[in-house]
Amino acid sequence: MIQPSEPYVQTFKVTKVFRDFWRREKVAAVRELDLEVRPNEVLGLLGPNGSGKSTTIKMILGLLYPTRGFIRVFGKRPTDVSIKARIGFLPEESYLYPFLNAWETLDYYGRLFKQPRIQRRQRVEMLLDMVGLTQVAYRRVGEYSKGMQRRIGLAQALINDPDLLILDEPTSGLDPLGTRQVKDLIQQLGRRGKTIVLSSHLLSDVEDVCQRVAILYGGRLRACGEVNDLLSQHGLTQIIAEDLSPAALDKIRAIAAGEGKSVLDISAPRQKLESLFLQIVADAQRERIATGGAVDTGRLAPFLRGEGELEGPQVVEQLLAATNGDGAAAAAQPVAPVRPPVPLDAELLSELTDAAEHGDGRKVLEDRKAAPTKPAKPAPAPAPAADRRIIDSLMKDDQADHA
Ligand SMILES: Nc1ncnc2c1ncn2[C@@H]1O[C@H](COP(=O)(O)OP(=O)(O)O)[C@@H](O)[C@H]1O
Ligand SMILES: [Mg+2]
Repeated sequence: MIQPSEPYVQTFKVTKVFRDFWRREKVAAVRELDLEVRPNEVLGLLGPNGSGKSTTIKMILGLLYPTRGFIRVFGKRPTDVSIKARIGFLPEESYLYPFLNAWETLDYYGRLFKQPRIQRRQRVEMLLDMVGLTQVAYRRVGEYSKGMQRRIGLAQALINDPDLLILDEPTSGLDPLGTRQVKDLIQQLGRRGKTIVLSSHLLSDVEDVCQRVAILYGGRLRACGEVNDLLSQHGLTQIIAEDLSPAALDKIRAIAAGEGKSVLDISAPRQKLESLFLQIVADAQRERIATGGAVDTGRLAPFLRGEGELEGPQVVEQLLAATNGDGAAAAAQPVAPVRPPVPLDAELLSELTDAAEHGDGRKVLEDRKAAPTKPAKPAPAPAPAADRRIIDSLMKDDQADHA
């Protein structure tokens, strides 16, 4: 059992080299990376495309092995099955079963965690409400826009109330409004003490929601620290005042000159384009100009609020104690499963879910692959069971919340 203050994730001089078919080194995607994720922080992995963010995340999840160096997640190897129930993952690309609707999708992932039916239903409803998809809950996710797919992916990553939430480019494909809503959600979860790692190639994504940021470029860590420290421009003073007269500006220049300093810039402050856009949308919404699709409820699912008798570390301990190791794999979705070429039939689904409940979801897939008549379907890896008592007590809080 690791101490509560110990980092949830530590990477030690981690390097990942991808090789070509002839085993020649092709790309060093990550180089000598030392990084830690501390409990209750929201850490941003910031870097341009190809800088190694997704590769780092996949190594933390145990989906890729480092070429050199090593990683500890909750004090264990990333491949250790006992930690999987504590992690939620939103992959860079949504891999959803296009013929399931949003409700069925979340219900399916809840089943993988062996959540009892009634609690599962409550949790699915709360998550759908939280990500603003209640109104489209019975539409097939294959028809969803990219933004709606991102939201359902986020809800899926939260179904097991994970201690560590890993989000790879959570705002990709979202318009500024959707981006703002997802950022608000991450912010709320962060304030509630969730530990979150999120990657992005956009500074604006991380600067509002992350306390700490790690900047990657060419697979190397170029800077790491508190956002405020990294962004404050030392050696400059900014004065923001109501519209001043030219005479007043001259006085300010004179004061600065008296101290031997020159005034570098005087201008009206510009708001960020993002804020302007959001302002326009907010105005339009007040005037009841509607667009279809997902809506923002601004509510956090009660079970994610972490209120009640079981405090974070206790839940962690119990979840860990409750995790059974046999045959269970990541809560994370597979890295790149092939989309099912034909509709997912109910029979296969129930077979898969039954098998998952017996910790053997993969076997059904193997059997299916072996049978030439029916094409193989991708199956998310089955996850270890969460302790029924914990879910019960979590749900007790939920009910109290509703009352
Ligand atoms: N499976 C792979 N095989 C070969 N090269 C890869 C593979 N995955 C990623 N890369 C390369 O590794 C580098 C880092 O990729 P990635 O981690 O996806 O970056 P980011 O997520 O920051 O955009 C890129 O140059 C990419 O082309
Ligand atoms: Mg990426």
